[in-house]
Amino acid sequence: MRRIIAGNWKMNPTTAENAVNLAKGVDERLEGINDLEKIIFPPFVYIPLIMENVRSVEIGAQNVFYELSGAYTGEVSPSMLLDLGVKWVIIGHSERRNILHEDDESIIRKVKSSLEVGLKVILCVGEKLHERELFRHKEVVKRQLDGIPDDENLVIAYEPVWAIGTGRNARVEQIEEMHEMIKSITGKKVLYGGSVKPENASELASAKNVDGFLVGGASLEADSFHKIALALRNQYLTSSK
Ligand code: 13P
Repeated sequence: MRRIIAGNWKMNPTTAENAVNLAKGVDERLEGINDLEKIIFPPFVYIPLIMENVRSVEIGAQNVFYELSGAYTGEVSPSMLLDLGVKWVIIGHSERRNILHEDDESIIRKVKSSLEVGLKVILCVGEKLHERELFRHKEVVKRQLDGIPDDENLVIAYEPVWAIGTGRNARVEQIEEMHEMIKSITGKKVLYGGSVKPENASELASAKNVDGFLVGGASLEADSFHKIALALRNQYLTSSK
């Protein structure tokens, strides 16, 4: 089973030139790594241009709508992404849940409709800090997983909200507890996301049931994303010896 290294660029970089340069830098560095699935998730507007400039990484979108066409101002449909050659989509990222107020029901609709057209989906789940402090983290993530379809193209990313963009990653035992639960419910690959950096990637990759990383900030720099990919690959090679 190939592990996944995924870079979520969020709303960065802010010019087409910088986006293409970053994509090219990542593509060149990751070209020789064949035993990982490698995906970058740029903002929608740069996707076509980036596709012309990379060969070794797959391209994904950071969001999608659940309807395929119609009067939905500002939205992008799963079939449009597929038509463009996009293979992957992130759904339910905590920034969309918390800043854009997406609810579990619309997130599950997006997951189903994307899988139906043939996109591969990374569904993000994860608890907020106060939910963990109240020991409600398992219950929250179970609820976020309620109603997900059983589909071979579905991957789950566990991203505790308190670890995103904070520099404070979850500890190995916290990751193992949550990944084990998510895997037992879904049977899917489970990625970890939340302040993954070159400095902590080897340790986090050694946690049980970590099938890859969804990287935010450190994916905006080709060298650090490359180092994280190497750490993931090396840890896997060591553990499968
Ligand atoms: P950071 O790696 O910047 O903490 O972001 C994680 C994330 O949200 C990936 O989707």
